[in-house]
Amino acid sequence: MSKPIEQIREEALAELSQAGDADAIRALWVKYLGRKGEVTGFLRNISELPKDQRPAAGKRANEVKKELESTFNESLERLAGQTGQYSEAIDVSLPGRPAPLGTLHPITRITRLISRVFARMGFGIAEGPEVESDYYNFEALNIPKNHPARDMQDTFYVSDNVVLRTHTSPIQVRYMEAHDPPIRIIAPGKVYRCDSDLTHTPMFHQVEGLLVDENVSFGDLKGVLTAFVHQVFDIQTSLRFRPSFFPFTEPSAEVDIQCVICRGSGCKVCSHTGWLEVLGCGMVHPVVFENVGYDTNRYSGFAFGMGVERIAMLKYGINDIRMFFENDIRFLRQF
Ligand code: FA5
Ligand code: MG
Repeated sequence: MSKPIEQIREEALAELSQAGDADAIRALWVKYLGRKGEVTGFLRNISELPKDQRPAAGKRANEVKKELESTFNESLERLAGQTGQYSEAIDVSLPGRPAPLGTLHPITRITRLISRVFARMGFGIAEGPEVESDYYNFEALNIPKNHPARDMQDTFYVSDNVVLRTHTSPIQVRYMEAHDPPIRIIAPGKVYRCDSDLTHTPMFHQVEGLLVDENVSFGDLKGVLTAFVHQVFDIQTSLRFRPSFFPFTEPSAEVDIQCVICRGSGCKVCSHTGWLEVLGCGMVHPVVFENVGYDTNRYSGFAFGMGVERIAMLKYGINDIRMFFENDIRFLRQF
């Protein structure tokens, strides 16, 4: 029998106190507790001891073995905690990392809301190109070349006869060319104008509306738009029809909604008027009907075009239109 068990124990603990890293501790484990380790060897050779000493020596050796195992383990764990390298251990009780989920852009949400409200009143959906010919964007809508009304909209020209559409009204013409009355459509889409400030952006969204049938009156137009405002906002929201001018409608009006930012008392957003313009509208001009070959004696109709951003600003209480297009995730997450 080589060394007494107490001596093995003391040497092991002394060496452990000198061990600086996990590898050194693992080496001590092999040296003392491994298959050819000193404690293991002591236990294997117990039979060489005098018979009366064997039970006590065996018991003690097993105690030492357990003690060294747990002391080595503790030292390893302490080291791992200090260096943060507990890499092999996977904590299965940790919650998983959530995959980030997107949300619908506020303009998409409002466009869908507007479409739903008009769908309930029987309006279908039409579309048209964003790069549009001068004819559909202007001329067919009774805005001839050199007409002063062209100054109402600051146009991006692609070439002499091609523009980025300045409004969704050309879809009216395209739709009427392809369909006979009765017509009841809305046409949502992007439009472009050389314009930029708190309430204007060079690209924005409009929803066009067109209803053509026999005996359509301005009263129908007022009824539809009032129902629309009351459904998108609430029944108490005031709106006013202000006489206005568009070459493609006669008579024409602009509809204002009470400013919800200041509740009508006047602020930066409503230019201190208490009202915010949300749409233009009117009875379709006979010249437009003639351009698409409709019988002006038989048919009448109304049209309107609204700014989706304006509606969204009023609905969500946003005071700067540019927020919609800056893609600040903190802004977009709120919807
Ligand atoms: C028009 O664009 C007409 N086409 C509307 C129309 C259609 C009248 C059918 C009659 C019949 P207007 O330029 O006023 O009109 O624009 C309509 C709405 O778009 C405005 O009320 C406003 O809500 C919004 N809008 C206009 N310019 C901008 C802009 N630069 N940025 C954001 N919204 C705008
Ligand atoms: Mg206007």
